[in-house]
Amino acid sequence: MALPYTASPYVLSLLLLLSIPAVFLLAPRLIPPRTLPAIPDADETDDLALFRRAVLLSASPSSTAAAASTTSSLFSPKRPQLKVAFLFLTNSDLIFAPLWEKFFAGHHDLLNLYVHADPSAVLTLPLTPSFRGRIIPGKATQRASATLISASRRLLATALLDDPDNHFFALLSQSCIPLHPFPTFYRALFSDNAGPRRRRRSFIEILDDEPTLHDRYYARGDDVMLPEVPFERFRVGSQFFVLTRRHAVMVVRDRRLWNKFKLPCLVKRKYSCYPEEHYFPTLLDMQDPEGCTKFTLTRVNWTDSVDGHPHTYQPEEVSGDLIRELRKSNGTYSHMFARKFAPECLGPLMEIADSVILRN
Ligand SMILES: *[C@@H]1O[C@H](CO)[C@@H](O)[C@H](O)[C@H]1NC(C)=O
Ligand SMILES: *[C@@H]1O[C@H](CO)[C@@H](O)[C@H](O)[C@H]1NC(C)=O
Repeated sequence: MALPYTASPYVLSLLLLLSIPAVFLLAPRLIPPRTLPAIPDADETDDLALFRRAVLLSASPSSTAAAASTTSSLFSPKRPQLKVAFLFLTNSDLIFAPLWEKFFAGHHDLLNLYVHADPSAVLTLPLTPSFRGRIIPGKATQRASATLISASRRLLATALLDDPDNHFFALLSQSCIPLHPFPTFYRALFSDNAGPRRRRRSFIEILDDEPTLHDRYYARGDDVMLPEVPFERFRVGSQFFVLTRRHAVMVVRDRRLWNKFKLPCLVKRKYSCYPEEHYFPTLLDMQDPEGCTKFTLTRVNWTDSVDGHPHTYQPEEVSGDLIRELRKSNGTYSHMFARKFAPECLGPLMEIADSVILRN
């Protein structure tokens, strides 16, 4: 049917007008919602190769035997040594390195250090060889993305590969400080920490009743986490943890949950996007809940938090009383580390390092 020539512009305009609501109705179904940037494929490929090597090495018989050793081997003179791998995840200078150096001094045979710095970070501090020698190839990290998980897994994999004597893996940031001397921390990990069947446990916060949990579960879209991660299994906890070697391997080996947690968040839900606070607690709670204390050794002050950032301590707040207060906990264990401290706190912290922080 041909429309009369003169009427057609009006009819066309009318049709166009009528189609506007249709576009609005259909668009959400046809166009996927906008997401934040995904992890670059090249980074994923590099990581997979590294993680495979770490898992293969850790599956070899000698390292399995070492990992299975129980508390009875503590302080025994024979090898292997039981070491702690300190993993620093940073996007700025390691301002508190001088304080950490004091914490590590005299114990270098019992620890290794690894630093993952965001490529934009300028490391200017005159770090000692033990710090400087272990800066691992870092890739870009951002808030509200799974890149912080990748960086943590990269640190774990590197430390697994580097030294089979690494038995615990402590993840820290540039704004963390120690609250106790090294031997106190070491004892908390190796002596006073027997779980079921005398297995040593990981210190990682695992919570299932936070009010934000629901929004955070849906941050990547509706139902995208299924079937691997039903809402009832979704957990939250501190981004900073201390894992056993067995759990470090578990994390580096995982592909199943990672395929879900690496999905970029929806732009409209970016304020619910904190994948690094969910991936580790959810994975470990699914695979080995008995092997976790569910408690973090890192004290954070969430009072009056702004934009997802905890309270940042300023120089005038630093005192012996503050350190003693931060050590206290409601759990069986004392806190060993605290965050966040402003860079300007270095001076006041160094002043009380010997008299308070590194003294029980
Ligand atoms: C936690 O931070 C608040 C300010 O946000 C401060 O008033 C309080 O003293 C801090 N608590 C501790 C234990 O440092
Ligand atoms: C201990 O528990 C009390 C009461 O639940 C709480 O107010 C306080 O902040 C907790 N302290 C620590 C260090 O978690």
